[in-house]
Amino acid sequence: MTKITVRASRAYDVCIGKGLLSRAGELAKEVLSPCRALILTDDHVAPLYADALAASLADAGFVPEIYTVPHGEGSKSLSTLGALLEHMAERRYTRADALFALGGGVVGDLGGFCASVYLRGIPFVQIPTTLLACVDSSVGGKTAINLDAGKNLAGAFYQPCLVVCDLDTLSTLPPKVFADGCAEVIKYGVINDRTLFSMLQQDTCPADERIIARCVQDKRDIVERDERDTGVRMLLNLGHTVAHATEKLSGFEISHGSAVAMGMVTIMRASVAHGLCPASDLDALIALIQKLGLPAECPYSTAEIAVAALSDKKRSADTLTLVLPYGIGACQLCVLPADKLQAFLEAR
Ligand code: NAD
Ligand code: GLY
Repeated sequence: MTKITVRASRAYDVCIGKGLLSRAGELAKEVLSPCRALILTDDHVAPLYADALAASLADAGFVPEIYTVPHGEGSKSLSTLGALLEHMAERRYTRADALFALGGGVVGDLGGFCASVYLRGIPFVQIPTTLLACVDSSVGGKTAINLDAGKNLAGAFYQPCLVVCDLDTLSTLPPKVFADGCAEVIKYGVINDRTLFSMLQQDTCPADERIIARCVQDKRDIVERDERDTGVRMLLNLGHTVAHATEKLSGFEISHGSAVAMGMVTIMRASVAHGLCPASDLDALIALIQKLGLPAECPYSTAEIAVAALSDKKRSADTLTLVLPYGIGACQLCVLPADKLQAFLEAR
C-alpha cells in the first residue's frame, strides 16, 4: 500500500493499493472513533462493493448504513442532496458520526458537500471507485452539486479525513468510464510530470499503483500550495475550457474524459502554432491519447468553442485564464482577454 499525506486545511492520508476495501474499517479507525457510518453510494456500485465496505466497517466497530442514489450526474442535485440530508436528520446522525462516499466523482462530490453542510460539518471519508475519482476528485476537497444554471455551482471546499483507494474496484469499470479517467491521468503528465507521461508511453497501465500514486502526489503538491483555487490550482484545468464547451455543445453526449482529451490537444495545437511548444510534443500527446482509447480531435469549430466557453456561467471577468503547454510536463497559466480566445485557438 502507498500512503500519501495531504497537508491542506486538514491533513489526511490517501491510501492506495489492492484489497483495501476489506481494510477500510481498520484504516478509518486510525482517524475516527467508531461511530455510525453512512455509506453513500450509487446503484451501480452498491451491489458490487457496499456490503464489503459495510462488513469491514462493522468489524472495526462502526455501525454502517447503506444509502443508495441513482448513478449518474443527475444525482448531483439539490433534490438528491435534500433527501439525503433529511434522511440523516430523521435517523439522528450526529457530528460524532461520519459519511463514507463509495463511488465515482458524482458520489464523492455529493457526499462531500452533504458532509460539509450537515450539522455544519461532519467527518467524511472518500472511497473512490473510478479512475477519475482515484486520481482527481477524491483528493483536494472540492465538493459540489449542480444547479439548473450549470455544473458545480453550489459547493464547498471541504477536505476528507481519509481517502481509501482500492485498486481492485477499478477492474469492474466499463471501458468507457476507465478511458475517461485516463484523460485525467494524462493531464498530470502534461501539466508537470514528464516522467508520468513517459511511463504511460511505455505501457504502464493507468490503473497501476505507481501511476495513481504519482497523480495523487502531483495533485497534492498543487493543492497544498493553493487549496482555494485562486492560483496554481488552476493548472488542473488544463484542456477544460475547450472541454466544458465541447461537452455543452454535444448536449453532454461527449463524455468529460473525451472532451478533456480533445481540449488538451486543441490547446497544445494552439500553443505549437504560437511557437510556444514543440510540435513533437503535440504528436506524442495525440499518440498517447489514442493509445488509451480516447479521441483527440474536437468536432466543433473554434468559433463554436469560443462562444460556448465564453457563456460559461462561472466566468465573470473580461479575461480568462488558460493553461498553456510549453511542452509535455511544462504548463503555465496565461490570462487572455476573453475576446481573443477564438483567434488564439485558430492560429495554425
Ligand atoms: P461517476 O461517478 O458518474 O461514475 C461513472 C460511472 O461508473 C457511474 O455509472 C458509476 O455508477 C460507475 N461506477 C463507479 N465505480 C464503478 C466500479 N468500480 N465498477 C463499475 N461501475 C462503476 O463519474 P466519475 O467520472 O467518477 O466522476 C465524474 C464527476 O466527478 C463529475 O460530476 C465531475 O464534476 C466530478 N469531478 C469532481 C472533481 C473534484 O475535484 N471534486 C474533479 C473531477 C471531476
Ligand atoms: N479537478 C480540479 C481541482 O481539483 O481543482
